[in-house]
Amino acid sequence: MRVTTTFLISILFTATAYASGKVTIVQAEDASALLPAGKKLGPKAEGCSVNAAGIIHATDGSNIINLRDGTVALKGPGSADVNATSWLASSRFLKNGDLIAGDAVGHKVFLVQKGQDPNSPQVLFQSDKFLQPNDMAVTGCGRYLYFSGMNYTSDSIAGESGELGWIDLWKAPVNRKLNKVSKQVLADGKVYRSNGIEVIDKGGQEFVYLTSAQNVNDSVVSTQIIKFTIDKTTGEPKSPTVALDIGKYLEEHEILAQADLIKAGMDPDGMRADLAGNLYMTLNAFKAVLRWNTETGEGVLAELKTVFFPTNLELGGQNGDEVYVVGKCEGNKVSCVDVIKFGGQNVGRAFAYQNGLGKKVKRGEWRA
Ligand SMILES: *[C@@H]1O[C@H](CO)[C@@H](O)[C@H](O)[C@H]1NC(C)=O
Ligand SMILES: *[C@@H]1O[C@H](CO)[C@@H](O)[C@H](O)[C@H]1NC(C)=O
Ligand SMILES: *[C@@H]1O[C@H](CO)[C@@H](O)[C@H](O)[C@H]1NC(C)=O
Repeated sequence: MRVTTTFLISILFTATAYASGKVTIVQAEDASALLPAGKKLGPKAEGCSVNAAGIIHATDGSNIINLRDGTVALKGPGSADVNATSWLASSRFLKNGDLIAGDAVGHKVFLVQKGQDPNSPQVLFQSDKFLQPNDMAVTGCGRYLYFSGMNYTSDSIAGESGELGWIDLWKAPVNRKLNKVSKQVLADGKVYRSNGIEVIDKGGQEFVYLTSAQNVNDSVVSTQIIKFTIDKTTGEPKSPTVALDIGKYLEEHEILAQADLIKAGMDPDGMRADLAGNLYMTLNAFKAVLRWNTETGEGVLAELKTVFFPTNLELGGQNGDEVYVVGKCEGNKVSCVDVIKFGGQNVGRAFAYQNGLGKKVKRGEWRA
């Protein structure tokens, strides 16, 4: 979620951009017939999530909406107007079918338990120590919830402008503590503003991937993905390292010059993963989604069809392997939804865990 207006730039797909080396290019399709309620999201579509049936949900700022039938799955406390006290910016279905939504302005996380009234969400957590939350991710067993947040200023400060927090969802509510990665660790890890966030499992070890964007004099000069190793006993994200420099990667693969990225103010936004270790991210100043494999470094760039300013995405559909992308349509007045069929049956994490895919290693704990 960004709070400033970014101009759409369509310089990405110039004639030379297709000489792409290890990055292949695919085309997205319009998903409005599959998810007709996408049109009802107004201009602020964000925070996608998927339920066990593979149906994509997203927020219009005020509520979490089922994009297939338009029903409200979680009703927020207010409207996302100019002076709003609430702005639902993120949503996730947990392994048990519960739905949570992050309120970036109210500094809350709401919960609708499976089967409960969507009009009366509980406040799962509230703290003014949250900068937002902006987006959220959960470990495969559903125990640790991570959230990102940012303070958008003209000059970002490492360790100050972004945050990474976590909550142990298995602890009784009264003991539930808000934990935050220290400013020193964030500064050492070069975390500026944090936005997209996802958890990936590799061989039983889970990692948090977090976007970091740096502003200098109101320009976005650097966009990176920072990787943290999750401490299994405490859930603490540790030892941050730069996993991907998006600008450098796109330039090296002759997709886009970093200078153009800076000019456009590109900010990586929504991030989701599949069980094959692919990370999918919206490149929000462009009509594009990047899929980057965290193990092999291979990439696929998807050119969007109707979404001009992609903000978030999630894997869903019948088999949980189609990537649905939301964001503003051309003209910025309403939202569009595209679908990317990458092929290869790479099942999304959220869909997989809700459907019990993967190997059970411990009571209540599933691994890919
Ligand atoms: C928002 O708040 C400001 C300052 O209090 C006020 O001037 C303005 O009219 C408000 N806008 C709306 C749409 O309520
Ligand atoms: C955001 O950054 C500005 C500029 O450094 C600062 O004045 C403000 O207090 C910060 N806001 C929060 C919530 O930390
Ligand atoms: C910051 O940007 C403004 C407007 O683009 C420009 O006039 C100014 O020289 C820039 N300042 C620095 C320190 O680069």
